[in-house]
Amino acid sequence: MSSIMAFLFQLSVFCSPSPILYSQFSILSLFALTLPGSCVILHLFLSLDVEEDFIMELHEAIKTRKSCRAFKPDPVPRPKIEELLRLTTCAPSAINLQPWEFIVVIGEERERLSRRLMKAYKEKQISCGPGNVKPLPRTVGKRGAKTLVMMNPFFEEMGVTSDRYINEGSCNFYGAPVAILMFLDDSFSKAGLVDHGIALAYLVLAAHGLGLSTCPIGLITAYEDDVKDVLSVPENKHLVVGVALGYPDPNSPINRFKSHRDDLDKFTRWIE
Ligand SMILES: Cc1cc2nc3c(=O)[nH]c(=O)nc-3n(C[C@H](O)[C@H](O)[C@H](O)COP(=O)(O)O)c2cc1C
Repeated sequence: MSSIMAFLFQLSVFCSPSPILYSQFSILSLFALTLPGSCVILHLFLSLDVEEDFIMELHEAIKTRKSCRAFKPDPVPRPKIEELLRLTTCAPSAINLQPWEFIVVIGEERERLSRRLMKAYKEKQISCGPGNVKPLPRTVGKRGAKTLVMMNPFFEEMGVTSDRYINEGSCNFYGAPVAILMFLDDSFSKAGLVDHGIALAYLVLAAHGLGLSTCPIGLITAYEDDVKDVLSVPENKHLVVGVALGYPDPNSPINRFKSHRDDLDKFTRWIE
């Protein structure tokens, strides 16, 4: 465990823009090596531009991260977004091709993007869904239904319907000040999506470690043409997923919702 911790420190260091902090992290890495069984630290703020010191254990971060569906409008400082993307690109990728292409949309452009998405949603009425190509296995479908049932009391408290809140909210990145869109060049096969999935996982966890909240937004891929048009994205780039990023609104009931997970035996078959 301690060697993992040392590795993570070094990983953070390689992503760090600050040589001054390198020595501090090296010392901490050595310290970590002397602590058998010590907990893994996800991330320490590496940039002098970020406002708080934030240390979060990796396991703690994994367990406590959740999607946020109501954001405060407060802007996220650009150095913090850059730090987040640097951490995201620490993700592994096949042959280290690092096929991710991010478009970060903020300010008035973010508003413009949402206006266009909302218009497209009203015209085409494509809702959030798994995008399956044939009926899902029953057990899997039931998980989605259960999630909605568990969300419903929060929507009732807010006086909104789940359908409207999730679809319109997704088009508006739930009011987040930052929308990060991930694109993949069309020269890649579907295998490139695996790299994007891993990067998305890094992104949401690293954001959590930085005191930010996220919600992956797959719905906008249904409106890919509109997104590409409004952001002048070349035809040969595929929109893989969007991510709403910002600070959570602590007063919104839906942010008290935490999704469930099935037991391990529902996903796992051991062969000995
Ligand atoms: C690829 C992907 C696309 C998603 N798209 C949406 C979306 O369009 N709108 C939304 O509200 N949540 C979206 N989510 C969030 C999921 O609903 C959420 O991750 C899931 O319910 C589990 O909850 P948790 O993230 O809080 O653990 C998406 C998640 C993933 C991984």
